[in-house]
Amino acid sequence: MAQSNLYSRVIGTGSYLPADRVTNQDLADRLARQGVETSDEWIVARTGIHARHFAAPDQTTSELALHASRQAIEAAGIDPESIDLIIVATSTPDFVFPSTACLLQNKLGIKNGGAAFDIQAVCSGFAYAVATADSFIRGGMNRTALVVGAETFSRILDFNDRTTCVLFGDGAGAVILQASDEPGVLSSALHADGSHSSILCTPGNVNKGVIEGSAFLHMDGQAVFKLAVKVLEKVAVEALEKARLTAGDIDWLIPHQANIRIMESTAKKLHVPLERMVVTVGEHGNTSAASIPLALDVAVRDGRIKRGQHVLIEGVGGGFTWGASVIRY
Ligand code: ACO
Repeated sequence: MAQSNLYSRVIGTGSYLPADRVTNQDLADRLARQGVETSDEWIVARTGIHARHFAAPDQTTSELALHASRQAIEAAGIDPESIDLIIVATSTPDFVFPSTACLLQNKLGIKNGGAAFDIQAVCSGFAYAVATADSFIRGGMNRTALVVGAETFSRILDFNDRTTCVLFGDGAGAVILQASDEPGVLSSALHADGSHSSILCTPGNVNKGVIEGSAFLHMDGQAVFKLAVKVLEKVAVEALEKARLTAGDIDWLIPHQANIRIMESTAKKLHVPLERMVVTVGEHGNTSAASIPLALDVAVRDGRIKRGQHVLIEGVGGGFTWGASVIRY
């Protein structure tokens, strides 16, 4: 039975970017060698992206998650054995199964038998994972959750498709959510509409030992753009209303870092000044489920986000899925 005065609070954050930083010019040079034409000017003008990080060939999603999780655990100052729930939001898991969350639990050396599972909601994955962990904690099922967004999207990019391969990067971000009497996550809203599944998808499946369909990401960029702008505003307003706050109460907006044009358009619609939006897309590219916790950790560590401030996170992605949470940090 949920207690009305029980909340989940962020008590630590962490993040990790693989060492290989690839600028637009580096990428344009690599692509030119295989006859694919793009330019720094085109990428910056359409997306705001200047660089992204790519995982090394032997670096898995669970390994990126491990680095981010260790940082979050250290920042929270907790014993890893106290973590009784691990949720990893990812669309690029190490394997079909076991889940990346189980692999992460093992890599962290956690032996307590707590729950661990993945959430697959593409770029909304972290919003889905926070809402899920918050519900589990407020319901009394768990006390301390490690919530991670981690991706190796470079593995599913078709580097012959310039309309998609310039957009994405790899990375991981993590938070520790813990039960508290003090307000933390104030509200969440999650939605999906599977009728839009074809505009952003990786439509491959494993059958009899081979991949059927395509294992590469496919996207109708303009359809995604239009839908993203529409649903992001709606879900942000819904989460704010549930928290009984207005956009004026929001100290920091942390949208999914897909594209600066989508992000600025949402901030303007919500009347949140651009200087109150955390922007990492320029340096990270779109890291899908990792983008929000990466941006959160950057702004916590550089001192912008302070205790007691209100943070609005919101994501949108394949499925189609979208979600938002209002968090008192
Ligand atoms: N370099 C150079 N030229 C390119 C590139 C590239 N990388 N990609 C496309 N072009 C060309 C096209 O071929 C086209 O040329 P043409 O006019 O000669 O046919 C021209 O640029 C315009 O192409 P459009 O697809 O119309 O470009 P658009 O202005 O729509 O921008 C983009 C494309 C950036 C993908 C845009 O649609 C967008 O931002 N969509 C949102 C999608 C997004 O952010 N997805 C992220 C994943 S989803 C998520 O996270 C929510």
